Parts: sequence; C-alpha cells; structure tokens
Amino acid sequence: MTCFIVEGGYALEGSVEVKGAKNSMLPIMAAAILNSDKREIELENIPDIGDMHMKKKILQSLGLQVSYASNVLHLDSRELCSHTISAALMKEMRSSIIIMGPMLARLGKVRVTYPGGCSIGPRPIDLHLKGLEALGARIWEEKGFIVASTPGLRGAEIHLDYPSVGATENLLMAAVLARGNTVVHNAAREPEIVDLQNFLNAMGAQVRGAGTETLRIKGVEALGSCRYRIIPDRIVAGTYLMAGAITGGRVTVRGIIPSHLDAVVAKMQEAGVVLEVGEDSLSVLNGRLKAVGTLRTLPYPGFPTDLQSPMMALLTRAGGRSNIVESVFEARFKHVEELKRMNARISVEGRTALVEGCAVLKGAVVSATDLRAGAALVLAGLAAEGTTIVKEIRHIDRGYEYLDLTMQKLGAHIIRSGEEQPAQAGQQNVAWNVADVPSHPA
Ligand code: EPZ
Repeated sequence: MTCFIVEGGYALEGSVEVKGAKNSMLPIMAAAILNSDKREIELENIPDIGDMHMKKKILQSLGLQVSYASNVLHLDSRELCSHTISAALMKEMRSSIIIMGPMLARLGKVRVTYPGGCSIGPRPIDLHLKGLEALGARIWEEKGFIVASTPGLRGAEIHLDYPSVGATENLLMAAVLARGNTVVHNAAREPEIVDLQNFLNAMGAQVRGAGTETLRIKGVEALGSCRYRIIPDRIVAGTYLMAGAITGGRVTVRGIIPSHLDAVVAKMQEAGVVLEVGEDSLSVLNGRLKAVGTLRTLPYPGFPTDLQSPMMALLTRAGGRSNIVESVFEARFKHVEELKRMNARISVEGRTALVEGCAVLKGAVVSATDLRAGAALVLAGLAAEGTTIVKEIRHIDRGYEYLDLTMQKLGAHIIRSGEEQPAQAGQQNVAWNVADVPSHPA
C-alpha cells in the first residue's frame, strides 16, 4: 500500500511553478473529440497527474490517438469509432460524463454509465441530461447504460437550475456544432469555463459570454485542430500557499493568474496570512493565524469548494473558532474525522463545520477520502508534532503532480513509501525512508 510519510515541524521555504489546471484540461481533452480535420490537437502545460492518464485511456477506448510527453498532449480524433465508454472506465472518474456533449455533437450517439459518485456527494447528472434533451438528444436507460442519441442537435434556450460546472461544459461542447443558436442561462462562471470557450473558439467555434452567467453559442458546421495552452491550476496554487501558511514558512507560487484566487487570498488574509501579489505569482509571508467568522464555499467567484478542506486544516492552527459552510457539495466533510485523529477540534452540524483553532496537531495514521481531503491531511501533517502517515494517496496523485517531490523541494519532510510510484516521467527514485530526508530545522 502506497502512502506518504510526513514528519511535521519544518517551515516551508521556496517557490513552486504551477502547471495547467486539472479541471480545465479534462473538458478540453474531451472537446478534442469535436475536431474533424486531418491535423491533431496539441495541448501545452499539461500536468502529469492520474486524471490525465485516465482521461487519455477513455479517449483511446473511443478510438482517438492520444500521446503525452513533457507536459504536452497530442490528440488525433480521425479514428473516432466507438460511442460506448465501458462501465469500468466510467467508474474511474466522474468527469467522464462530460464526454456526452462532444460525442453527441460529433457522432450523434453515446453510451455511458452513471459516473462514480465520489465521497463528496451523490454527484447527480440531471442538469446535464435535461440540457442535452433540450438540444435535441433522446436519452434512455438500457442494461445499466445511459444512451443518448440524436439525428442532429439544434440550438435551444436553456436555464440551468444550478450553475453546474460540468453541465455547463457538456452543454457548451454540444451546442458548438448544433444547428442554430443556443443560450445557456445561469451558467457556471469558473475560469475553467472561460478556458474551454477560448479553446473551442480556437477550433473555430463561436462562443461568447464565458465568465458570466449567460453563454451564447452560434452553431457551426465543423471544428478543426489547434495548439492551446491550458490555464494554471488555481486549486493547486492555493494548496501550496496554504502549505506555506500552516508551517509558518514563506512560499511563492509562480506561473499563475492571481485574480483567479481573489476569494482565496481575501479569506487567507482574514485568517491573518500575509500575502504578496505579483504579476503571475502569489507569495505567503509570515503571519499570525487567526480564526475567520464564517467561510462559505460558493460557485466562482466565491470561495472554491476544492480548497475547503486545505483551508480547514489551516484554520485548526488559528486562534479562535471558525465556521465553515460547505454549500456546493452535500457531503464534503469526510476529512473532519481524519483531522480529528490528529487532535484537531472540529464538530459538524449538517453542512457547517465548527473549527476550534489552535489545537496542537499530532502525527497519526490517516486516510485520504478524496483528492482535496488528501491534500488537507498532508498540510496538517506538515504542521503536526511527530510523524503522520497518509494512506490512499492515489486520490492525491489524481490531481497533484508529484506532491511529495514538490513539497520536498520546499523543505518538507515527506516521502512516498510503498510499491507503485505515480507515472513520474524522468523522476529518479528518491530515498524512501524518513531518516534519509535531509533535515531542515524550522
Ligand atoms: C467540478 O465538478 C469539478 N470537477 C470539481 O472539482 C469542483 O468541486 C466542482 O466542479 C465545483 O466547482 C471537474 O471539473 C472535473 P458541479 P462538477 O456540477 O462538475 C450539483 C476536484 O476536487 N449538480 O458544479 O461535478 C452537484 O450535486 C473536483 O477537482 C446537480 O445537482 O460540479 C453539486 O452539489 C471535486 N445536478 C453541485 O451541483 C447536476 O446535473 C456542483 O456540482 C450536476 C450537478
């Protein structure tokens, strides 16, 4: 069993170059299905993470040629031949459902199973299916599969009940090849939606309004290839900033778009963290942590749900009581029990967690329940007395590129122990026991 072994008590120092955003890369990889010209698509700034390799497998199972090397993906969809994604592959990742839109647009048919709900809630897809039906898809269930088919998509006016990121992406990728115009009201406004719009327009689509709650799409006949650079990952950036803050260190994240983290910076400053904003960087300097009244996760531009658990870890070290309200997902407090094993004082009432700050965190054996919860447990381990073992780190490898090696470069005492290493292109095997990790006294 692979795990991270973390020895706490060392302040992190240094800078991290942040790669492309997982949640931008995944829909854009799916959008490559829409390319019907002879040349391949080239995507740059692609992190070497588990979800990218999984999505690559899914697209290859449909007949695309996909290759990855040195943070660049090449995707060739000329041989697109199958419209069915196996249940085994669908189970592996939730975002596989955003294949439906481009498949209906390109092939007029797609068969998928309900995506695995991970431990943050049931992850329904009713908004996806309702929107695709409005665009002219017929959708039914058959032997455990969801089947969608259309003689040809047509533009429609769609009102999303909730600004769902995935539903917005699916409908956007369906509407670009629909006959006529489509308007999506109450669309998600995340930077990843803007990135998808820009990518689709680089392929020849006509999309406007991304970043606002109203998307306007003018259907076109066909889309072609392009070379595109993915935006940096605001959630990975926020995670490293919080790692710097929880250890009382000084960490800079580079290659980012600071404005994507406005709500995160504001909340960290409210918690006493001193931050410096650069052109394409953010730096955490020293600061005395203090409780925040209420932290409420919201759709963008509110505080992102994906940084709720790392922020909770940080607030366990802040003097005073903080209320964290998780308003996006139904069940995103699974990390609370794990943090409590480390002596954190947290109580949960429905969607609100009350964090009693300033507990002395103690090393323990804990398990990552999802990718962001796993990151939060590593942050808590960095600040804890003694050694923490974080299990189920496959969740973490899905969205953080070489988290252990990156943290080691910042002076963290963290190593990966166990048999399988993630696909670390060009990475040498590092000494895998705590005794060998160089000591950086805080
Ligand atoms: C995307 O998930 C991200 N995943 C999530 O990141 C992120 O937390 C989430 O958006 C919110 O920002 C990817 O982009 C791959 P939603 P998604 O549809 O699209 C409800 C991470 O850690 N809903 O905006 O699944 C749903 O239940 C991951 O990187 C419906 O009710 O999020 C949830 O309560 C975790 N019906 C809320 O909307 C639907 O049809 C937000 O979901 C769809 C969603």
